[in-house]
Amino acid sequence: MDVKFAPVMANAADFPEAIIRATPGFGFSDVGLLWQKLQLGQCTYTRNGRAAIAIAAQQLQYPNQTNTVLLPAYHCPALVEPFLWLGYRVRFYPVQADLSVDAAVFQRLLTADVSHCVVVQFFGFKQNANQLITLAHAAGKRVLEDCAHGLVDFVASLQQDDPRVSARICSINKVLPTIDGGLLYLRQRQSTQPGHCSWLEELKGIAFLLKIPQRLQRLRQRTKTRKPDRISTPEPTPGFKYFRPADLNSASFRHTKWILQCSDLAAIKTKRRANYHYLVTGLAGVAAGTCLYPVIADEAPYVLPFLLRDGSHFQQLRLKKIQVLRWEEMAPSGCDITEQYRSRLIQLPCHHKLTRADLDYIIQAMAGLTEL
Ligand SMILES: Cc1ncc(COP(=O)(O)O)c(C=O)c1O
Repeated sequence: MDVKFAPVMANAADFPEAIIRATPGFGFSDVGLLWQKLQLGQCTYTRNGRAAIAIAAQQLQYPNQTNTVLLPAYHCPALVEPFLWLGYRVRFYPVQADLSVDAAVFQRLLTADVSHCVVVQFFGFKQNANQLITLAHAAGKRVLEDCAHGLVDFVASLQQDDPRVSARICSINKVLPTIDGGLLYLRQRQSTQPGHCSWLEELKGIAFLLKIPQRLQRLRQRTKTRKPDRISTPEPTPGFKYFRPADLNSASFRHTKWILQCSDLAAIKTKRRANYHYLVTGLAGVAAGTCLYPVIADEAPYVLPFLLRDGSHFQQLRLKKIQVLRWEEMAPSGCDITEQYRSRLIQLPCHHKLTRADLDYIIQAMAGLTEL
């Protein structure tokens, strides 16, 4: 099925290197010798979140019939591409201003030909995911819960079995300082597990985590010698910008597991929540827009979603070297909120390694946004 995603509006290559990054950088304190023995139950480590989605979609696909999946209109292509690769038909449900979904509208879209449904916890917040899961399950759909942004709560949720959900996925490197990693929970345990890469690839991965090739690249650029080495990633598949089928065959790096097992997730959650609250307070009077969720429940935030009045302020923030993110490449769905949020909803960093000075810098940059 041919789905055309909207083009990017701003290109990362056009901005200076960020000094405040969206995700935390690695430090040796991230690999203490204290192995926490996280209870991951029947979870599978995957190369990334999109590979976890693809494996789930593959395992849950009905053979010899058309599979149709309902996805949120507000999305990133990495969430949609695995379904397209597997030959699913995709359909989109609209989102509301707070990214929750109107239950009546959602229910009307759960037609007989829809076989699967994806419910996303945007930015680590639950919106009305629980209600949607109940509705989709009651309508006999196979439900995949996308917790790509909510590693900490994903791990906690593994303690309770939820018969309504067939699969749940999350991404590791959105929250932890790793260069890859996803986790997949499949209710029906899968028979084969993705294997590890070679030790040579593992060593290259560790070098990349330690920024060795990146530093060499800078050195070579200064001396204008040959092109830099990169960690080997499979070639992109024609027609897919983010999804690589080869990722299905490989688990995450071994050192990614190590970092996860050494991470104090409770402390990370506390710090992220504290940073989030500090930003919300500091941004309360800012003229540029409003925090989408000024009050949060018990979740561990991935980023702070902020609704700009003027989408062009995104560029100003990037020029101030803050790695603000924004989803721009949505498939057409007719959802007005998605169309508006494509330029106006930005994701401000609030990760657990940000210092008070970093947070103040973000607040000042936001307060200083000017009309262009
Ligand atoms: C909601 C959502 N699901 C899935 C993914 C894919 O995760 P990953 O980047 O780990 O492949 C992303 C990342 O872009 C995402 O934002």
